[in-house]
Amino acid sequence: MDPQTQNLLLEAMLDGSQTAALITDPSQEDHPVLYANKTFEKLTGYSPEETIGHNCRFLQGPDTELKDVQKMRDAIRDEHSVTVTLKNYRKNGTPFWNRVNIEPVRTGGRLFFIGTQTDVTVEVQQRKSLEEKEREIERLSLPVLEIDDGIAAISLNGEMGVERYRRLTVKLSEYVQQHHSHSVIVDISGLYWDEDTPVFDLLQLQDVLRLMGCQLFVTGISPKAARDIGSEVDKDRKLIAFSSFKQAVVSAKRAGSFS
Ligand SMILES: Cc1cc2nc3c(=O)[nH]c(=O)nc-3n(C[C@H](O)[C@H](O)[C@H](O)COP(=O)(O)O)c2cc1C
Repeated sequence: MDPQTQNLLLEAMLDGSQTAALITDPSQEDHPVLYANKTFEKLTGYSPEETIGHNCRFLQGPDTELKDVQKMRDAIRDEHSVTVTLKNYRKNGTPFWNRVNIEPVRTGGRLFFIGTQTDVTVEVQQRKSLEEKEREIERLSLPVLEIDDGIAAISLNGEMGVERYRRLTVKLSEYVQQHHSHSVIVDISGLYWDEDTPVFDLLQLQDVLRLMGCQLFVTGISPKAARDIGSEVDKDRKLIAFSSFKQAVVSAKRAGSFS
């Protein structure tokens, strides 16, 4: 096959590809595009005349994260391949999430870069809405209630893994700080108990709250059980526990009147 036919076939293949692709020349001033396929034009709205001879940064705009641009800059400088997902803008101004892959290629003793662009807007939006839903479920499954002036209460249900305790601690600390709570009542009667008793996690939660000037009261566990298990963990750190919620509220109110 003669080189001209070969080139035409290669170009037809690139233009028929589902992936936007281009080639850049780093030896030229400002590292311009040498060639861009038809899919690049379809994706971005920029014709070959508007693309060729320019640096690809014309796709960037106000919400493009600088750290992603920096990642590309570093990889190009070090002649490494890189993949980033960043916000780019079409010619008509509409933003899209672009997964850019950049690969250095050496041919005939010269360095070029091949870039592919994929619109991953739907994927990014789905991931964001999933994360939002997860946060909402977490918020609803750990609802903190203000039951009296300075007294917050929360009821724990089901299984509490390490991650859920971590989120509970973050959530309660934020709540206590915002609402200036002096006491937090945590009801654990709905908790699923197994050999990993939650006492150690509750003691840690108590330590964090104490640092913020807030007292933890635990209900739904007999005071004796709390003492017994607590002393197994650490003799000097004890949980203040009540079997009834009412008793805990009375004690919390008393604690509040002294604080
Ligand atoms: C092959 C290749 C493809 C590129 N494709 C894109 C792209 O699709 N979108 C984008 O925002 N930047 C892209 N860039 C990155 C920019 O051209 C530029 O390198 C980046 O903005 C960092 O350089 P600067 O600090 O000079 O702007 C590409 C770079 C190369 C080498």
